Amino acid sequence: MKILVVGNGAREHAIVHALAGEPGGHELHAAPGNPGIGREATLHAVDANDGAAVAALATSLGAELVVVGPEAPLVAGVADAVRAAGIPCFGPSAEAARLEGSKAFAKEVMAAADVPTARAHVCTTLAEVADALDDFGAPHVVKDDGLAAGKGVVVTADRAAALAHAEAALGAAGGAGRVVVEEYLDGPEVSLFCISDGATVVPLVPAQDFKRVGDDDAGPNTGGMGAYSPLDWAPAGLVDEVLERIAQPTVDEMARRGTPFAGVLYVGLALTSRGTRVVEFNARFGDPETQVVLARLATPLSSVLHAAATGGLGDLEPLRWSDDAVVNVVVAAAGYPGTPRKGDPITGIEDAEALDGVHVLHAGTATSGGALVASGGRVLSVVARGADLDAARRLAYDGVARIGLAGSHHRTDIALRAARGEVTVPTAG
Ligand code: AMP
Ligand code: GLY
Repeated sequence: MKILVVGNGAREHAIVHALAGEPGGHELHAAPGNPGIGREATLHAVDANDGAAVAALATSLGAELVVVGPEAPLVAGVADAVRAAGIPCFGPSAEAARLEGSKAFAKEVMAAADVPTARAHVCTTLAEVADALDDFGAPHVVKDDGLAAGKGVVVTADRAAALAHAEAALGAAGGAGRVVVEEYLDGPEVSLFCISDGATVVPLVPAQDFKRVGDDDAGPNTGGMGAYSPLDWAPAGLVDEVLERIAQPTVDEMARRGTPFAGVLYVGLALTSRGTRVVEFNARFGDPETQVVLARLATPLSSVLHAAATGGLGDLEPLRWSDDAVVNVVVAAAGYPGTPRKGDPITGIEDAEALDGVHVLHAGTATSGGALVASGGRVLSVVARGADLDAARRLAYDGVARIGLAGSHHRTDIALRAARGEVTVPTAG
């Protein structure tokens, strides 16, 4: 198949890498991609957020499938533009992508579909925020309503810090900003990607992300510093529960509203003492979880994405999965999640990939004078597979040790507690 992948992060590299590894092979293109993606696909210098330009590129290539990776182009309607050009597209419409683009909208859909989530107040003034904080008590959870690249959420015991975040978010959008104040959800988080064609829903396997920048979940939230799968500690029946109580009702509700959701519904969950709750919906694959989930998928990814894009998921055979454990450690640039330092040379990728079971996916990389340099916050994903989590994480960290990038940092505890059997789901009472 001729496939165009839109985006330029490690998630898109993971998608391209999975497609490139399929038997039979494909003709792969990416817009704009990155240097790592460029080793497995032809790159096109087209703005991912420009629907007309992406549709024109897909048409000129004769693409049979377009896969839109990031949220910004989805919210901007890039998938609509591609479909309007008559080309199957994996990724929801702008209307359906509001499940991610507006946290208030997501809450409204969840309420209509009776999906379990944190209780929340949508606030437009600081006085409303103050009342909501007092209603729920500490720890406080304050969320920017709109897209914020994983940085719009503050979870803190400090009421003043919660108010300050709300004030900044309310002041955004020329003072038209909204914030969502929520009750705090305890318990471990799980990411479950649910593929939908607008009607049928097919869940992938759960993964866990590490959102905070530092070991032991210290420091600010990031886009995600690492991930692993499988989650041996997760309750049996979790995937069925999420499908029946969360993903299918949400997809049904979106269809009922005349804005069917086709693409991947990223269900971010907390397994709390009071049961499974939705923390967030995203309208796309998660990064860094995609890197581990797709590494375990044995069914050709192209068949799944194409079926979702063409209404054919009901006819797809059950997905097949590797039993291997996969761990992804993100190597981030100095300064991330603040302003990352750019331009430092990157070395050692080939050395890391010489380890059996390791591959390295690019995110914030660029070429400069023939050398590979850092160009963004999350620079590389080092992905390793092993017979169990312990083996996979040791291999991943052997790979990370071979990467050279001045000032870079990474978490040293990705999948550690899971490998030790220390992750538990809180029980009621
Ligand atoms: P979100 O952008 O909604 O995914 O939030 C980012 C991160 O903030 C989540 O992955 C959680 O770690 C944390 N978070 C969000 N909502 C809550 C909540 N209600 N209770 C506890 N932590 C939360
Ligand atoms: N892994 C978090 C996200 O993709 O939003």
